[in-house]
Amino acid sequence: MFITLEGPEGSGKTSHIPALVEHLREQGYTVFPTREPGGTSIGEQIRAVIHDLKNVEMHPRTETLLYQAARAQIVEQVIRPRLAAGEIVICDRYADSTIAYQGYGHQQDLEQVRALVKYATGGLAPDLTVLLDVDVEVGLKRKTQNGMEWNRLDAYTVEFHQRVRAGYLEMVKQELKRWAVVDAGREWERVQEELRRVVLEKLNSIIGNT
Ligand code: TMP
Repeated sequence: MFITLEGPEGSGKTSHIPALVEHLREQGYTVFPTREPGGTSIGEQIRAVIHDLKNVEMHPRTETLLYQAARAQIVEQVIRPRLAAGEIVICDRYADSTIAYQGYGHQQDLEQVRALVKYATGGLAPDLTVLLDVDVEVGLKRKTQNGMEWNRLDAYTVEFHQRVRAGYLEMVKQELKRWAVVDAGREWERVQEELRRVVLEKLNSIIGNT
């Protein structure tokens, strides 16, 4: 089973994933956590280029293509083999980040961006995508206050990040069956509890159908 976590900046994905993984392992599942961009040696090198605050001249199309290059690599090198081995793969961001950030955020043609994403993933879609939804200003403030990594994309305008969040909510509406929305504006324990619940519900429904 392939699970992805998405969200605007400061939604807490990166702190929630290890706790979720530990919980699932305690239940006896074999879980492999990874992240995008990155998760492979090539992907981490591409991540450094995309996120480098010095690369202010990077064009949105360059940015879009670099994310797809990193994605093609992680899909083939990591995600497909792990899924084929029967593991649960949990990815911190995936294809929907490109639609939200490069599509809605940079206001590039959504059909063209979707086609690139399809090419990069070879059509591999998640079974479940959880949106950790948080107000944009609350999320950005969390990132600055907690001393979290501040990258070139964080430095885009608040309006950019508002388009990203609105884009996510639009995607949820278009594909209700794949998405679960968790309100990440609440205290950490409540968010983690709900995250575990939606993931286990999906796991049980898949196992129940096999
Ligand atoms: P983070 O997930 O560690 O916060 O950093 C990843 C950053 O990269 C975040 O700002 C979102 C951005 N991103 C995109 O813009 N498009 C993508 O396709 C992916 C995977 C990430």
